[in-house]
Amino acid sequence: MAKNIYDNRNTFLLKKGAVLNNHLIKKLTVNGIYYVYIEDEFSDNELKDVISPEIRKKAVDSIKETFTYFNQFNEYKENCQYSMNERSFIKKRNEHLENLTEISKELINDISKKENLVISLVDIKNYDDYTYQHCINVAVLSMVAGIELNLSNKDLKNLSLGAMLHDIGKTFIPKEILNKDGKLSDEEFDIMRKHSLLGYKYLKDCSWLSSAVKIIALQHHEKVNGSGYPKGLKGKDIYKLAKIVSVADVYDALTSNRPYRKPIAPNEALEYLYANGGEHFDYDIVKTFSKKIIPYPVGSLVTLSNGETAVVKKVTKEFSLRPIITILSKSKKRTVNLIKEKNLVITGLSHNL
Ligand SMILES: [Fe+2]
Repeated sequence: MAKNIYDNRNTFLLKKGAVLNNHLIKKLTVNGIYYVYIEDEFSDNELKDVISPEIRKKAVDSIKETFTYFNQFNEYKENCQYSMNERSFIKKRNEHLENLTEISKELINDISKKENLVISLVDIKNYDDYTYQHCINVAVLSMVAGIELNLSNKDLKNLSLGAMLHDIGKTFIPKEILNKDGKLSDEEFDIMRKHSLLGYKYLKDCSWLSSAVKIIALQHHEKVNGSGYPKGLKGKDIYKLAKIVSVADVYDALTSNRPYRKPIAPNEALEYLYANGGEHFDYDIVKTFSKKIIPYPVGSLVTLSNGETAVVKKVTKEFSLRPIITILSKSKKRTVNLIKEKNLVITGLSHNL
């Protein structure tokens, strides 16, 4: 193991330096750990955590509390039909949002301290509990892109909190639709699409909350060609921070394991973003975003266009799809720099040797 491993309650699971065996792999997967960093003859990089496990846990707990509180209040309102407790609700709601604001500052501090940060699936995909982890992942991915885009500190603060709260409107969507195992019907999808407007409406009267945060919740499903919702805004009319969250949101959703769909590999998710760059997503944001994502981290096993299998040895930031690899051919191992070897491309992650 190249790093200590903790579960999503921050309980220590496995020490750096431990040697993996079947028993330990089983223990990790039971605890929702599907990706780990390992140390072997190919690894010579120092590995940095994108955010510390402690801050991730704090952020997840706070988002969970905020979402649960919104949910409970909605149910209460539906059943009682009057708003006797509205004042105490608002007070409590503000406490939750203030707490989340503090945590979003910690997230920025933690992330911006690290130079040359890149993200691989190991950093964001090790946790179950999709709803809340998704909010943190979108915040982390958005901020890494935002730092690369040289956003001001104020923008980064708004981006961080806006990304964490972007789906708060989902607390207003019936659970049967939200947790449905299969594809949504047109009617259900129409209801689902209301979440961005509902989230915005709810945050709107929270006067101390920056309008940037509210607009992120409102516009994160708008598409630059005007085919998004709720308003069908185009290009420049969509707020820049909402465009960043939109890219991060889709990347994290595509690479996540969902009950109704298997996750797609990071390289395919990046290709999807590129294919829709200029249509759904802002092309420059996709380009910046993809620089910060490592689809094939050092040590991953990949399949090549000539059918051979290779191990990734070194990744450069600018050409993360064309790393230096060692081809594991039957006759002789050889190391190839894919930037120079133009005829050879990686076709995907390999799962067998
Ligand atoms: Fe959403």
